Amino acid sequence: QYSSNNELVQAGWSKCWSKRENRPYWFNRFTNQSMWEMPILGQHDVIVSIEIGIPVTPTTPRVPISPVTPRAKPWNSTTGTEDKPGQPASALYRPTIIYWDLDIQTNAVIRERAPANHLPPHPEIELQRAHLTTKLRQHYQELCYQREGIEPPPESFNRWLLERKVLDKGPDPLLPSDCDPIISRSMFREVMNDIPIRLSRIKYKEEARKLLFKYAEAAKKMIDSRNATPDSRKVVKWNVEDTINWLRRDHSASKEDYMDRLEHLRKQCGPHVTAVAKDSVEGICTKIYHISVEYVRRIRQAHQTLLKDCNITEAAEVQDRLVYCYPVRLALPSPNHPRVELHFENDISCLRYKGEMVKVNRGYFAKLELLYRYSCIDDPRFEKFLSRIWCLIKRYQVMFGAGVNEGMGLQGALPVPVFEVLNKQFGVSFECFASPLNSYFKQFCSAFPDTDGFFGSRGPFLNFSPASGSFEANPPFCEELMDAMVTHFEELLEKSSEPLSFIIFVPEWRDPLTPALNRMETSAFLRHHMSVPAFEHAYRSGSQYICKKEEMYYKAVHGTVIIFLQNDAGFTKWEPTPERIQELLAAYQVSQRTLGSPVPSSTSSAGAPGSSLGNPQGTERERLRALKTLHFFVDNFYAGHTYHRVVVAYRPIHHFHICS
Ligand SMILES: C[S@@+](CC[C@H](N)C(=O)[O-])C[C@H]1O[C@@H](n2cnc3c(N)ncnc32)[C@H](O)[C@@H]1O
Repeated sequence: QYSSNNELVQAGWSKCWSKRENRPYWFNRFTNQSMWEMPILGQHDVIVSIEIGIPVTPTTPRVPISPVTPRAKPWNSTTGTEDKPGQPASALYRPTIIYWDLDIQTNAVIRERAPANHLPPHPEIELQRAHLTTKLRQHYQELCYQREGIEPPPESFNRWLLERKVLDKGPDPLLPSDCDPIISRSMFREVMNDIPIRLSRIKYKEEARKLLFKYAEAAKKMIDSRNATPDSRKVVKWNVEDTINWLRRDHSASKEDYMDRLEHLRKQCGPHVTAVAKDSVEGICTKIYHISVEYVRRIRQAHQTLLKDCNITEAAEVQDRLVYCYPVRLALPSPNHPRVELHFENDISCLRYKGEMVKVNRGYFAKLELLYRYSCIDDPRFEKFLSRIWCLIKRYQVMFGAGVNEGMGLQGALPVPVFEVLNKQFGVSFECFASPLNSYFKQFCSAFPDTDGFFGSRGPFLNFSPASGSFEANPPFCEELMDAMVTHFEELLEKSSEPLSFIIFVPEWRDPLTPALNRMETSAFLRHHMSVPAFEHAYRSGSQYICKKEEMYYKAVHGTVIIFLQNDAGFTKWEPTPERIQELLAAYQVSQRTLGSPVPSSTSSAGAPGSSLGNPQGTERERLRALKTLHFFVDNFYAGHTYHRVVVAYRPIHHFHICS
């Protein structure tokens, strides 16, 4: 190593010798950034050297972690081959509409972190993970069917993955293997909701009659075939017989009468049915968890075998200092990657590994390329670029599930004009919940640090602890994750005296009130909250990276609550003044107007596209009709702890599942 000037050393830079190129280069041990020419402080340094406890006003780095590698031949996005030296590949394809702004620099400051111990992704391992996750979904489906005679509740496996990740200490980025408790609250709750049968949305009287009959039969069968107490048997039997007699007798009943009757029967039989199903449903949760543990062991073993030739690099020295946030770095170097083929079909980029194809719109492919350019520091020649995109998309595909539109509801994003205002008016430069596919900024947190870090992710939000900065949060609607998110916000705001601000967007679920929403609205850090009404705003589709332009936005059928949690310094810097709030609301109006008509009506970011209420054209009549159906259902079915809001936005429910 060469000696270097003191300030550069302080900022983490040292001069090294490249054996391969036979010339010196500069390396930053804090950011792993490397460059040929001498860095200029304040321009190439991402790290802000501030000792703990000393107030920070970091200077915004103008050039964030983007490796400058003259002579390296960038990969060419048109041909998939190498390109002319120095020519940015991203310049070759310019998407006509852009749903992101990657020029915005971060203002999120964190304490420096050691490189992460996740094993570097590899297509071979991703393929194995995909295969085993699909098998796990099948096991879940079989268990639900064999033990309870039901299909798995829609999205319940996906929410199980999210819920487990709140607790999991295991090594796999997707599958849980070290959770306490073993029995998942969300899986238990959702399966239980559908026992003895799933209660679907009712439109016609005849359907209501059939549903009542089906419920009565199923409740009786369940009590007869399980280990019920004599008392339970008696109550259920009596109520079922009474209902069936009533059904036989009464031919003039209206839809409302049937629904009332069903509500009554449910109230009478529900607790007994739940009691007899409890062990069996817990058994499903336990079994799925244990299979997952075994799969994680297998994936890990295969991964370690694949990597055994790679030596673990020494973790870079980490000092206790504040730095601008930077993408997740992996401690282990990546092995050589196999060839992934790329071709374009009109506007779609198709990447194939061993016959397995993943697809992404060309504009988003260009976005991934830019993100990679900004964030990845170990692949200046883009040699691993295609296989890393393949792993990334495969991972998300596996996370979504194979059903039509499955999982997409957990990925919906705010409209672009809203992000623009968040940035301009409130200094927001960071999304707490995102993926490289749906992020607006180039700095964001996401579920998978190992695959997403190369594309800018700062890792899962619950593991990310900013000391200052302005953040937007639109979490996937998993109750446990949202609850943990609120705890995390409060801890961060409590701890920091630097400007810290979170603007949170959640569906307006008040009936009953979502615990996370309740906690935020009563938080000591609450500065402002407001609602955007149902049908008057839109979300960007969860499948934005692959859908058609005209399917990009869909209307929210529920209100969205916007909450400002800020510490004092955050409030001083980014106060939600009436003028700023006005701008924010106006951005929703702009997005409504400019998104054009028709905006497909569907559920919001929690909603599964396809489970739409109302007509895609969203006329007032249909809107009212949809609401009427909904209210009818709600009025008829709401009871105590019953949750029905799944109709409004496809989300975990606590008693009922209403299919669409
Ligand atoms: C509703 S979308 C948000 C879309 C968009 N980034 C926005 O903020 O409007 C939620 C995103 O959070 C991601 N996610 C899931 N678990 C996460 C975690 N623990 N940390 C950060 N992001 C997570 C999901 O994969 C999904 O992309």
